[in-house]
Amino acid sequence: MNTEKIKRNVYYTQETTSTNTDAMNSAAPDMSIFLAEFQSNGKGSRGRSWLCAAGDGILMSILLFPTLPPEDIPKITLAAGVAVCKVIRKKGFDAFIKWPNDIVVSGKKVCGILTEKKNERVAVGIGLNVNGGKFDGELCDKATSLFIESGKTFEREELIGLIADEFDSAYKLLNERGFSGLKGDYKKMCVTLGKKIRVELPLTSYEAFAVDITDGGELLITCGEKKEILNSGEVSVRGIYGYV
Ligand code: BTN
Repeated sequence: MNTEKIKRNVYYTQETTSTNTDAMNSAAPDMSIFLAEFQSNGKGSRGRSWLCAAGDGILMSILLFPTLPPEDIPKITLAAGVAVCKVIRKKGFDAFIKWPNDIVVSGKKVCGILTEKKNERVAVGIGLNVNGGKFDGELCDKATSLFIESGKTFEREELIGLIADEFDSAYKLLNERGFSGLKGDYKKMCVTLGKKIRVELPLTSYEAFAVDITDGGELLITCGEKKEILNSGEVSVRGIYGYV
């Protein structure tokens, strides 16, 4: 158990371009947290944007100065996924991790995580849909919020504290024992395993079966007789019947 409470600096603003950018450009110390009510240029994975109406969600970035080897940096995102999924479960939801780091409830995405690295700095950006009531267009089938799933609103401040504490524990484990320290929890919460998936590459896509998570946090798949290991930076996977 992580008994030492980490002292963190918290920077809050009404509006910013992106809390990840704020973290990267700051002179703040390790483990500082950046929060905003609204982002005018919220960044999502694969160059997409992250949209969230003012005050509806959690827009949060944790600034780190990791001493992990470079190959372990992407695993920080997996640690954040474990942390957020645990917190959402504590609040009574059947939350899962869609490999590598989307958090889903009822088959829809409730949280996305984007880790960015520049020199010795890493910003772990967490976007959690909390109290928003609807999603438009194609997001309607893919995205959800804690409010949509439960009809209840949640204190974002409390959730932020819980996420920060869970992240501290997961990050500590990652530093002390590598991803193998988190793998058990990750696998238990990973909804991708045991499923037929579609592997999407820039120029092609194919069906496969998701078998396991490796000690490196990669996805082990089979495609007919062939085994393959997918690295989260290179591919995205979808369920063949929907988003998950
Ligand atoms: C994804 O597309 O799944 C990742 C989304 C990450 C969004 C969060 S919101 C807080 C932080 N600031 C950003 O600009 N992006 C991340």
